[in-house]
Amino acid sequence: MGLNINKIREDFDILKKKINNKPITYLDSACVSLKPRQVVEKINSYYNEFTACGGRSMHRFGNRVTDEVEKSRGVIKKFINSKKENEIIFTRNSTEGLNIVTKSLELKKGDKIIQTDKEHNSSLLPCLVLKENGVLHEIVKSNDDNTFNLENFENKMDKSVKLVSVVHTSNLDGVTNPVKEIIKIAHDHNALVLLDSAQSVPHKDIDVKNLDVDFMAFSGHKMLGSSGTGILYGKEHLLNGFKPFLIGGETVTDSTYNSYTLEKIPHRFEAGLQNYAGIMGLGEAAKYLMRIGKSNIEKHETNLNKRITEKLIDDVKIIGPEDSSLRGGVFNFNIEKTDPHELALMLDESENVMIRSGAHCVHSWYNAHNLDGSARATLYFYNTEEEVDRFVEAVKKVSKLLL
Ligand code: ALA
Repeated sequence: MGLNINKIREDFDILKKKINNKPITYLDSACVSLKPRQVVEKINSYYNEFTACGGRSMHRFGNRVTDEVEKSRGVIKKFINSKKENEIIFTRNSTEGLNIVTKSLELKKGDKIIQTDKEHNSSLLPCLVLKENGVLHEIVKSNDDNTFNLENFENKMDKSVKLVSVVHTSNLDGVTNPVKEIIKIAHDHNALVLLDSAQSVPHKDIDVKNLDVDFMAFSGHKMLGSSGTGILYGKEHLLNGFKPFLIGGETVTDSTYNSYTLEKIPHRFEAGLQNYAGIMGLGEAAKYLMRIGKSNIEKHETNLNKRITEKLIDDVKIIGPEDSSLRGGVFNFNIEKTDPHELALMLDESENVMIRSGAHCVHSWYNAHNLDGSARATLYFYNTEEEVDRFVEAVKKVSKLLL
């Protein structure tokens, strides 16, 4: 069944906004998605109805917070189909989840990490820090069209590989890597797999049990939740072996002047007072996405991306494969002799069309390709054909002015 976009858009007050009497066209959802009323109301309910601290205060507000946080955990468990609720850790964002895993594995000199050539800084940098201490680090080169090369990957696997830390769907070009195959190959070599799923979870059905992935990090702010929220999923027995590197309130059951006893997972990883409102909002966001259905979301974005690609293919150089069906909701591009920042600014100033420009936190890829950056439009289920046509017309108009 297709999506009733007009009805969906009624949930997003921000989409009713006009600037200079013109509607806005928001095409930056890979960075931060818009938030529906249901999520905003859930967040506000914490502040308006039961502001308190979870897991500690025994009064009714405190207990309500504790319950709501655990309800959210249950929703996220269902959302990604994990075996157990204690495999779901609330974080601030994908970056935090990726750092927790990369650091907690305590890799030693001579152990190897494998990554793709399209990792976001949040996935690449924690590994580069380990490299400074003697951990080996190898990059799998993509095919010429920026799709994943399984053969290159398999050739890199040997006994020293302890971690395969790869992006699931790229924020650079929207390409989704064959993670099921990657995980199988990694496990055949006794390596663990950490997925950066910041750009896949908001758009695709994800089943961690079926993938058999060891760890997966994603952000709330890209899937209708508030900023400062995220999830780290990890298999229970692996999380049990980690020492948390942030420790304090709620992470222990007891302490003396000389010792402490760690809480069980997941609480030992959720140090200090949490973003309770955000966590509740994230549960509501996951429910909203489950109601709409990720397969509907994916189909809608692919159709819109096809429409943009067909209309702009002769005017721009696309980053990633030309085939739009391989790029999900990402249309990343350059126009000859045009500065992407200037283009983005002009689209916003003159047409209220909001896209992102620059290196999109994947500087390593741009440096390797001798590019300073690019302009990127990204789609979500609330975008319309009318909006993408507005974007196409604006790009054609503004790029002529900039030549
Ligand atoms: N990683 C986010 C993006 O691609 C910030 O826009």
